[in-house]
Amino acid sequence: MMLFTLKPVQSGEFIEAAYNWKLEKLYVDLASAKNKGLTPVEKKILRGLLCGYSPREIADIIYQSSSSSSVRVYLSNGLYKYIEVMLYSQTSQQIKISHWSRVTKLLEEAGYKLASTLPQPVAPTSIEESDRPEVRQTFDWGEAVDVSIFYGREKELVQLQNWIIKDRCRLVSLLGMGGIGKTTLSIKLAEQVQDNFKYLIWRSLNHAPRLQELLADLLQFLAQEESSQFILAETTLERTAQLLEFFRKYRCLLVLDNVDALLKPHAYVGNFRPEYEEYREFFQKIGAVLHQSCLVLTSREKLKEVAAIEGVNLPVRSLELKGLSEVDCQEIIKAKGVTCSEYEWRLLINRYAGNPLALKIVLTTILELFDGKVSQFLKHNLLVFGGVRQLIEEQLTRLCETEKQVLYWLAVKQDILLLSETTEEAMPPGMTKGELWETLESLVRRSLIYKHTTSFKLLPIFKEYLNQQLSKQNNLQTEVIPNPNPGKLSSSTNVNET
Ligand SMILES: Nc1ncnc2c1ncn2[C@@H]1O[C@H](COP(=O)(O)OP(=O)(O)OP(=O)(O)O)[C@@H](O)[C@H]1O
Ligand SMILES: [Mg+2]
Repeated sequence: MMLFTLKPVQSGEFIEAAYNWKLEKLYVDLASAKNKGLTPVEKKILRGLLCGYSPREIADIIYQSSSSSSVRVYLSNGLYKYIEVMLYSQTSQQIKISHWSRVTKLLEEAGYKLASTLPQPVAPTSIEESDRPEVRQTFDWGEAVDVSIFYGREKELVQLQNWIIKDRCRLVSLLGMGGIGKTTLSIKLAEQVQDNFKYLIWRSLNHAPRLQELLADLLQFLAQEESSQFILAETTLERTAQLLEFFRKYRCLLVLDNVDALLKPHAYVGNFRPEYEEYREFFQKIGAVLHQSCLVLTSREKLKEVAAIEGVNLPVRSLELKGLSEVDCQEIIKAKGVTCSEYEWRLLINRYAGNPLALKIVLTTILELFDGKVSQFLKHNLLVFGGVRQLIEEQLTRLCETEKQVLYWLAVKQDILLLSETTEEAMPPGMTKGELWETLESLVRRSLIYKHTTSFKLLPIFKEYLNQQLSKQNNLQTEVIPNPNPGKLSSSTNVNET
């Protein structure tokens, strides 16, 4: 048994607003009106108003400043407008808010006030009661990075907020290829929904902790307010039970980033490495057991266990992140200081399929080698090099031989593969239809190929990389001995050979 000492506690501001107001509903409705989630500051100011404070008093509390000008800017440039749009969508009546004191009245009339006006600061005993967060919130952001520079993803954020707050999902996976923005989105999402939780813990699993170790860390944090001395159980199973007890008693948000660090390489997608097998049952329990908390995980690969228990109407769901939109990628290009014509930025964004990391890497090269001239870079028609190559290789080295074989086959054969066209004659050499389907499913779960109805497509950067590898291999072959079976050769091509 281990004993822990206590850590200091952080508190939120104006969270007592939740005792009298349907805060989560208000956040979600305002997010729809704004087309984007409210920022933590907007939420704080809104809660201040709902508690009956004036902009000046709010400024005093938030900024320790007697000037209310920044609070007033947030109100007149943002919150008032969102409330007006929201009320218009509900009542079809055009309302103009010109003074802060009108806000609570309007929101009360619109039904956002809870029936009881008495504060109820006791810990929730049922899931319904826990709709209202408790007085004290305790957050531990671990190594979460600053995400103040963040573009787009409005739709994803609204969808995820709905899943977590409205639909009470217990397990949500954020999936997507390397560099697509999973970690960034997980932090942004946690910032946006934090007011709905008593506890928030964000952890990266990059260093692949054993489950026992991770549970000890989580329980140490969660136990700090329970009693002065918390007795940590010995076994993983017991610690899982202790965590679930907290998950039942309090509304906790746990974010586990980079779960793929626990997964087995050179095997079909989503299987745990032998020493991390315990996580399989852990995730299954989080998804299946009744509790009022939520685990958000990010991974480059969909977990097999999660795939088996998820569904659009179930409390276990997955969101596969695609590239950022053209407009959002343009913001990344502008922020880097690269200027280019509309045609050029379109080409650049499409080639890297809106992957923000790939774009950032390429923009750095354009600045360093081509003096920021996108046209000069595009002339060379070379998509894959340096950091982008590394990003691709990190993902391809994890594949099993059959997955590599299918990827090379796709890269050579066609841009789009239609399942209906996979006849016995048109198969990767030596592969049955069943094996091909299984492999395609595995590649989709790694976000390495995109599925649209029953067709599959390889991303341009992967296609170029694989063709580069093949021509290298063919050159080597012709130097030594002609290759009699190019199909077989491609399957054994090692992605590490550069
Ligand atoms: N919405 C966004 N707006 C601006 N920059 C973004 C956005 N999303 C991601 N980025 C940037 O793209 C890069 C990659 O993002 P991130 O680390 O979140 O990707 P990831 O999917 O977690 O990658 P990995 O699979 O390697 O963990 C980071 O530099 C991040 O700042
Ligand atoms: Mg990440």
